[in-house]
Amino acid sequence: MQESFSELRITRELNAEGIAKSFAEIAFRNLSFLEEFYYYEVVDSTNERAKEKCRRFCLFFANRQTEGKGRLGRRWFSDEGGLYFSITLPLYESAKLTMISALSVAESIPGARIKWPNDVLLGDLKFCGILGEISGEKAIIGIGINVENEIPDELRDYATNISRFYKLSGLEVFERFTRDFNDNYAELLSGNWSGLFQRYRELCITVGRNVRVITPAGEVSGIAELSEDGAIIVGGQKIYAGDCIHLRH
Ligand code: BTN
Repeated sequence: MQESFSELRITRELNAEGIAKSFAEIAFRNLSFLEEFYYYEVVDSTNERAKEKCRRFCLFFANRQTEGKGRLGRRWFSDEGGLYFSITLPLYESAKLTMISALSVAESIPGARIKWPNDVLLGDLKFCGILGEISGEKAIIGIGINVENEIPDELRDYATNISRFYKLSGLEVFERFTRDFNDNYAELLSGNWSGLFQRYRELCITVGRNVRVITPAGEVSGIAELSEDGAIIVGGQKIYAGDCIHLRH
């Protein structure tokens, strides 16, 4: 049976209070396309809630997720203290939407770098993951950012949170991300993909690295380059989706 989660639907009139209002206020101020903001104290997955509603130009935001979803069927730990949200947009080349999301996160946190396709790292550790999905006529961009949430012991070799590097609150990180995302989305719609791609490429530490990419069709290893359509090129092959492992230099 489908569990029901308490949901707050907030409009530009900011019909809310407390922390829900603070996040919604930032979202409406910075995202010019935004029509509705849904707030959940706890929810299964904001991507799942976004799928359920037909609307585009909405943001689904959770304080905590019980079944946060990662790429490639993995789980995304979503304890209190992190940012977990999904944005619904009209269909567009999905890779470009997730790439501008990773770019927006990376550009809003000093020193952050991108690992192809859209992990964002501080040092060698991941603090942000992005899950793009398509549902009917809309693209769903799900973004998870570890800010002050505890990193579970079993993930400490791969994951970190922003608070290990900077004293930034969730509100401040959300403010920075939404401002950058709005600008980058407008730039994408205005046709300047090339400029966005160059900025993504400059921040992407996968370029020039020796990598192994694992896909359902098999594995390929070699020095990585990126193609403008978002694929990784390894050993002469273009790969659009897969698990990319950085091998030792
Ligand atoms: C990854 O594996 O790197 C992608 C992680 C994406 C996590 C976010 S949190 C908000 C949204 N809701 C989900 O269930 N997943 C995405």
